[in-house]
Amino acid sequence: MIYLAPSILSADFNILGEQLRIIDEAGADYIHLDVMDGMFVPQISFGMPIIKSIRKSTDKVFDVHLMIEEPDRYIDDFAKIGADIITVHAEACRHLDRTINHIKEKGIKACVALNPATPVSAIEYIMDSLDMVLIMSVNPGFGGQKLIPYCIDKIVEVKALAQIKNLDIDIEIDGGMTPDNVSLALDAGANVIVAGSAVFNGDIEANTKKFKQIFAKY
Ligand code: DX5
Ligand code: ZN
Repeated sequence: MIYLAPSILSADFNILGEQLRIIDEAGADYIHLDVMDGMFVPQISFGMPIIKSIRKSTDKVFDVHLMIEEPDRYIDDFAKIGADIITVHAEACRHLDRTINHIKEKGIKACVALNPATPVSAIEYIMDSLDMVLIMSVNPGFGGQKLIPYCIDKIVEVKALAQIKNLDIDIEIDGGMTPDNVSLALDAGANVIVAGSAVFNGDIEANTKKFKQIFAKY
């Protein structure tokens, strides 16, 4: 199964509820929530109050992507407001194994994200505890950037590692995904596709459906 996870980073926050309803009805599977702290990445986006508030308007899977330093400090808070999946960056955690255990203890799916320059080997020893691996295909911090092509090779690497370990793990790709290049990620083995600007710029309903039509061919 292939899932579409629109990132609301590119949404119009003035009419966020309405835009959530559109992607919901058009077939979005997850809602991807990019939390940025202005330290791990340059930008500050949004945090708990926004997530808590929109939890009331959709029952879709909340895929919370934490681009924050030492996210361990906030796992309990994100659990409380309804996160279904929590992604932390390998580069932002001093004790990644402990943080993953913390997420799992809360009964939430755990995912680790790797920046473009971070090798897949960073997660080799903790992969058994993960529900998903997120391959960043741009440098995190902003929507609307262009896909860094070598990141596609990292999907193939994660897939191969999962096969060796006999693990059934989701592989998410985030950054620069469009209907024109998404096949590269799908062919490589990704099954959760994040798309921000390619969903929210222009006709949101048509954009969502375009991705889903491509997925249906796989
Ligand atoms: C980037 C964020 C992404 C971003 C994707 O740091 O993690 O989720 O919103 O946006 P697009 O799809 O426009 O590259
Ligand atoms: Zn993201």
